[in-house]
Amino acid sequence: MTYYDKNALKLSHEYLKKHINNDDICVDATMGRGRDTLLLCNLAREVYAFDIQEEALSSTKRLLEENGITNAHLILDSHHNLKSYVKSAKCVVFNLGFLPGGDHSIFSHSDTSIKAIEAALDIIPPDGFVSICSYYGGDTGFEERDNLLAFLAGLDSKKYTVMLHSFYNRPNCPPLFIVIEKNH
Ligand SMILES: C[S@@+](CC[C@H](N)C(=O)[O-])C[C@H]1O[C@@H](n2cnc3c(N)ncnc32)[C@H](O)[C@@H]1O
Repeated sequence: MTYYDKNALKLSHEYLKKHINNDDICVDATMGRGRDTLLLCNLAREVYAFDIQEEALSSTKRLLEENGITNAHLILDSHHNLKSYVKSAKCVVFNLGFLPGGDHSIFSHSDTSIKAIEAALDIIPPDGFVSICSYYGGDTGFEERDNLLAFLAGLDSKKYTVMLHSFYNRPNCPPLFIVIEKNH
């Protein structure tokens, strides 16, 4: 495999395609315009997708309808409340940042995204995983990335394996792709 034609999102989608089966339940913690939700719906049996913006829900609903998708539950709530809606899932997918083409002043923040990742780690089984694309810099700033990396560094290595993928020498704050696997 080569990396020059990849980015964080492409790496995350390759990982999802390899690890999700058609009887799995999955969570999209940051629905946005629904591109990850659509991919998950095509790979899994059932998908729970969260966003705090109505605009994300209407955009995603339209995308799923255009593609004939009927196995998604679209939820207008913060991802840190995900355990109120789903008790168990093979994976939880985060694409942190702001809504593409939306209001750049509304974006994910580390206080709620870290709570959501903790909730996600509670509901995945051994061999389940959490996938994270972290967009930072620009309007979003660095606070979420820095707190997230500090949190991940502190996860117990006996329980979890954390992989951090960075396009280290690319300019303009290249997004990170992170996988947390729950050890067997
Ligand atoms: C980078 S976008 C996600 C892109 C999306 N996965 C897609 O395929 O288009 C980040 C999204 O996270 C949402 N968001 C921010 N804080 C959130 C929270 N606490 N709970 C759920 N979603 C949140 C934003 O509203 C935004 O739509």
